[in-house]
Amino acid sequence: MADNALQERIEAIRAEIREKAEGLDSSRLVYEMKKTFMDPKQGKISALMKDMKNIPAEQRADYGKAVNELKTWALDHFEKIDRKMKELELKRRYESEKLDITMPAKKETPGNLHPVTQMREQLIDIFSGMGFEIYEGSEIENDYYNFTALNTPQDHPARDMQDTFYLSPEFLLRTQTSSGQIHVMENKKPPIKILSPGKVFRSDDDATHSPMFSQMEGLVVDKKITLCDLKGALDLFVQKIYGEETTTRLRPSYFPFTEPSVEVDCSCFSCGGKGCGLCKGTGWIEVLGAGVVNRKVLANCGIDPDEYSGFAFGIGIERTAMLKYGINNIKLLFESDLDVLKQISDYQ
Ligand code: DAH
Repeated sequence: MADNALQERIEAIRAEIREKAEGLDSSRLVYEMKKTFMDPKQGKISALMKDMKNIPAEQRADYGKAVNELKTWALDHFEKIDRKMKELELKRRYESEKLDITMPAKKETPGNLHPVTQMREQLIDIFSGMGFEIYEGSEIENDYYNFTALNTPQDHPARDMQDTFYLSPEFLLRTQTSSGQIHVMENKKPPIKILSPGKVFRSDDDATHSPMFSQMEGLVVDKKITLCDLKGALDLFVQKIYGEETTTRLRPSYFPFTEPSVEVDCSCFSCGGKGCGLCKGTGWIEVLGAGVVNRKVLANCGIDPDEYSGFAFGIGIERTAMLKYGINNIKLLFESDLDVLKQISDYQ
């Protein structure tokens, strides 16, 4: 049996632990308090253990037992209050993070893609569904790619200084994405099936023309490609953009890089072909230029025109968007007026 003095010290420590534990309200404080009793160097219970060496040998066993009991009790007690504190802390956290789900939400005004971007994405979607790959050329071109290789003779009106922004006698801002045709054909053997979207520049400015606008070029080169293949691809395009019932018709036209060349009209999607303001009473709306790739253009790119043939087309992206969304002034697409732009969305 330990002597009375020891019992008193032990009881005093127990009482002190109980009393101090009452006032704690966080697990950090429990940890700190535990240290003052259990720390191997400075802890009060550890100090009792260290006193062992001063106890007469015959009392040591009892002394050790009593101190060990106190230690076990204290550890257990600290563990219990620590658990209690942790629960309390969790409860406090839940309270502080509580959400009031009855509160009215802030009104969200989601943005939408620019109409020209929407149209470009739709066109890419339609033609990549037919197996076209994307080729993006550069906006600065030299004379050869923009004109000469495309069989555009020196005296052609498209070469007029008034239409083209020249950067130097040799370099210019491309006036058409058709220049992409040449880059692709120079670098790839047929079969070729590419779509080339991008910005083009012309010295032109009125309600339906802007000095910068976007085009999407299409080019297919393979054995036995004909105008029928072109019509098939464009029928699908107008149906997807303007509605299932839309059809196309081809009118003879002239472009230096295609022979024959055509102007493609689609049946008016507003009146169904009866004649209305949009189609100016004709039932048809002009949508793009196209044709069979001129033999000279194939030859310029090292492709044998006796073995291969192809078709090409050029779609104006702003024009297609203006027709589809009923916009009558191209400036509305470039003025960044959100009140106008947010009304136009195919994705809502
Ligand atoms: N490059 C022509 C333009 O800017 C559009 C065009 C017409 C592209 C006929 C073609 C085509 O590929 O075959 O007006």
